[in-house]
Amino acid sequence: MKVCIIGTGYVGLPTGLGFCILGHKVVCVDKDASKVAMLNYGNSTLYEPYLKEILTKSLKEQSISFTTNIKDALKDAQVVILAVGTPTSKDGVSADLTYIKQAAQEVAANLPKTYTVVCIKSTVPVGTNDFIENIFKQYCLHSNWDICSLPEFLKEGNAIMDFLLADRIVIGTDSPRAKAKLTKLYANHKSPQLVVSRRSAELIKYASNAFLAIKINYINEIANLCEKCGAKIDEVAKGMGMDKRIGNQFLKAGIGFGGSCFPKDTKALTYTAREYRTNVPLVDVAILENDSRIGQLVKRITHLVKPTQKLALLGLTFKANTDDCRESQAIKIAKELSKKYKHISVYDPKGMDNAKKLLKDKVEYAKLSIDAVKGADAIIILTGWNCFKVNFKKLLKNTKKSCIIIDYVNLLNPKQVTNHKYYCIGK
Ligand code: UGA
Repeated sequence: MKVCIIGTGYVGLPTGLGFCILGHKVVCVDKDASKVAMLNYGNSTLYEPYLKEILTKSLKEQSISFTTNIKDALKDAQVVILAVGTPTSKDGVSADLTYIKQAAQEVAANLPKTYTVVCIKSTVPVGTNDFIENIFKQYCLHSNWDICSLPEFLKEGNAIMDFLLADRIVIGTDSPRAKAKLTKLYANHKSPQLVVSRRSAELIKYASNAFLAIKINYINEIANLCEKCGAKIDEVAKGMGMDKRIGNQFLKAGIGFGGSCFPKDTKALTYTAREYRTNVPLVDVAILENDSRIGQLVKRITHLVKPTQKLALLGLTFKANTDDCRESQAIKIAKELSKKYKHISVYDPKGMDNAKKLLKDKVEYAKLSIDAVKGADAIIILTGWNCFKVNFKKLLKNTKKSCIIIDYVNLLNPKQVTNHKYYCIGK
């Protein structure tokens, strides 16, 4: 089957490559000509485990190609997937639908006359599929199409595996023809499928992300309590997670949730609830507490380290195994610390370029983690990169004996750092 994907970001690109693995022919469209050129040469525009290898293989087998020309890309495509960004609007809460609206107009105006299923994979508020259907009625010269909701549940840093081993594939449509086409699209995929109405599919996505954000916020609250009452958060989380009704994932206490999804989607969900004259107070609290966690964690550092001393920050991306620094709590902590400390050296294995755009000249950028920790009075771990854990002994050889370790993601085994004062979360 030929699949056309609009958008080559953190969702569009791994999804396109995932469909290649399933045996489909994929054409990805992006407005950015330099990005398209890079991808056609096999150079990945973002860091994601296995992505470069699969890109190289798929290009070699000619199962994927990239173009700026939407008309050519749509030719013979049976399924079109819109995977463009839906960032937060200028109002700071609602979802900005500018890109999806533009993409829908362009697809509609260029859609060939053969039957096509147009899927909305971007995270969009309830009712957006109806809105896009109206765009198609206005811009498309025929009506041989269906608009379906096809929300994505992959996580950055594990995108390809999440695509292939998804817990579920949610298809939002009332059209039997579209359902049959999408069932064929996923014929080689083992995950269970759930076919629901478009509005339910749209809400499943937001409700799932917000639920996970609440879960993270909750475990951070319990971690705060552990610190006061003498319990250990790892043990508490393990014991909770053994209850199948709770589940053992997303119970890792740390610096709070960040990234391009949870902060944006939780806000958008509260906006939708208010639009429908109801509210979601649990989500409101999760947003507020996640924001206030930055101040709490900065305060702990200022109690331990003097303003004249040197800090080494390890990890800047919103989580490990990605280069993405969007809405990264680590970046927000670094910004707050830069108001109080003159000497801050930072290092991230993949996120330095993105971090530089956000932190500018507020900090010093180390070429290696070893350079960052040289002469530091405190090492603060903000992202759980495995390489920090593996190399930590080596890193410690390059620091002062008096250097303290503040491990805000509970990455290290305290036994690794017995000669240094070690602080972590929830213990
Ligand atoms: C999230 C969802 O997990 C995906 O299912 C969804 O498809 C995606 O959003 C999206 O809407 O596109 P993602 O933001 O890539 O995925 O990454 P997560 O692994 O969910 O992490 C989000 C944040 O929560 C990170 O800052 C992470 O460090 C934090 N987190 C996660 C914790 O603090 N503790 C945990 O136990 C898990």
